[in-house]
Amino acid sequence: MSAAEEFVALVLAAGQGKRMRSSLPKVLHPLLGRPMLSYPVDAAFDAGASQVVCVIGHGAPQVSEMLNARYGERVLTAIQAEQRGTGDAARCGQTALPNFSGYLAIVYGDSALITSRALRSLLELAQRESAAVALLTSTLPDATGYGRIIRDSNRRVVRIQEQRDCSPEEAAITEFNPGVYAIRASFFREAITRLKPNNAQGELYLTDLVALAAQGGKDGGVADLAWDAAELHGINDRAELAERERDLALRIAREHMQRGVSLRDPARVRIEPSVRIEADAVIGVDVELRGSTRIASGVSIDVGCVLIDTEVQEGAQFLPYCVATHSRIGPNSRIGPFAHLRPGSELARDVHIGNFVETKQTRVGEGSKANHLAYLGNGEIGRGVNVGAGTIFCNYDGYNKFTTTLEDGSFIGSDSQLVAPVTVGKNAYVGTGTTVTQDVPEDALAIGRARQVNKPGLAARLRAKLRAQKEAKK
Ligand code: UD1
Ligand code: CA
Repeated sequence: MSAAEEFVALVLAAGQGKRMRSSLPKVLHPLLGRPMLSYPVDAAFDAGASQVVCVIGHGAPQVSEMLNARYGERVLTAIQAEQRGTGDAARCGQTALPNFSGYLAIVYGDSALITSRALRSLLELAQRESAAVALLTSTLPDATGYGRIIRDSNRRVVRIQEQRDCSPEEAAITEFNPGVYAIRASFFREAITRLKPNNAQGELYLTDLVALAAQGGKDGGVADLAWDAAELHGINDRAELAERERDLALRIAREHMQRGVSLRDPARVRIEPSVRIEADAVIGVDVELRGSTRIASGVSIDVGCVLIDTEVQEGAQFLPYCVATHSRIGPNSRIGPFAHLRPGSELARDVHIGNFVETKQTRVGEGSKANHLAYLGNGEIGRGVNVGAGTIFCNYDGYNKFTTTLEDGSFIGSDSQLVAPVTVGKNAYVGTGTTVTQDVPEDALAIGRARQVNKPGLAARLRAKLRAQKEAKK
């Protein structure tokens, strides 16, 4: 679309969404980690809208806070204090845009699946035909709940009949109104003042603009464009919310596959829209990738992993059932199964983090390994370090966190505790079962456990005594 054919978009989002049965306004319910309302807003911007106005009312402070945080001044809001219908909502929206010209795109805030391509196609049609109103239409075997498209004998759209106002014959119509419109600004300004609440709900219906445009044929009339229902379903209750989230997840999964990512089962992943994955990564089933997660080429993420705001570099491998948050995994590192990388875990290349190992705010140098059962919090771990099974960084005294430093080449024996702040020097060795409370110098061996004594025959004597006690009680 050329710059001369600029358009503005109105997103109607003042309703309560009663059928959600929620204290959260409907349009703030998340799909794939983002509020419902952000989807039509993003689609409008992607389609080239120069300005987006959201009409808000129910839960307005929360909704406007979300819009502000996500879009700042790029999105304006208009308040509809009382929900008197979609026509009234659009009229409110207009007050935020007193001087717009060209076309106005209007969508509903619960149209989470709307694409920028659908919006652009509709606007192009409206402009090509100089229509007063252009609308998308679609069909469903059962269009219950939607407004129906009423056509005349020449197949021209003449009006929309809401479900509640339908005669039985009208209710049988399978062509429905998805609620996506392009309306010429000059027509809109004038016609919106002519809406009347002559309907079952006593509301001002935006859909009545279609009849007004059809009547004033010389003004450009109504243009309609058939579109795939899969992009046009609204969300009215939690069941539809879940269905739409699944639809979106599948759409995103397919896009990744087209770009060369292998998904073992595209119906069993949840990849948020903000996630980036390079070609030749392999994603297993029941994997969730959230937030700003980045997956490089050659990475494999096996079943059941959840990665949040995490960067995984080339060739790294996540074995089954790991959770990583705000972490960075270096090339060819291997994580899991069952590992937990908490925020601030930064692993260099060729690092191994094995089962039941938890890291937090810890850097691990090239080639270092912690393969089993460990808590490594607030650590600075050098290169080529081996952390034995059962090692604990005691990083917290109830008030402050302290750092444990393991220098290059050091070796920590199994079941050791390192009481931070403490440093184990280069190539030093900590004996199994040691509680390290003082720094260990380079190349030293630290060993801090009670010496073992063996008492011959004592186990047998102890057993005999316990058995006799038990017999005596009977
Ligand atoms: C509307 C359409 C219907 C269409 C369907 C598509 C009208 C009269 N009907 O019906 O033809 O098939 O969408 O999903 O337009 N809203 C406000 N203020 C209000 C009322 C509603 O902002 O006073 C907002 C709601 O927040 C919602 C949107 O407008 O996002 C649609 O309202 P809703 O009540 O869901 O309309 P439907 O009955 O679904
Ligand atoms: Ca609706």
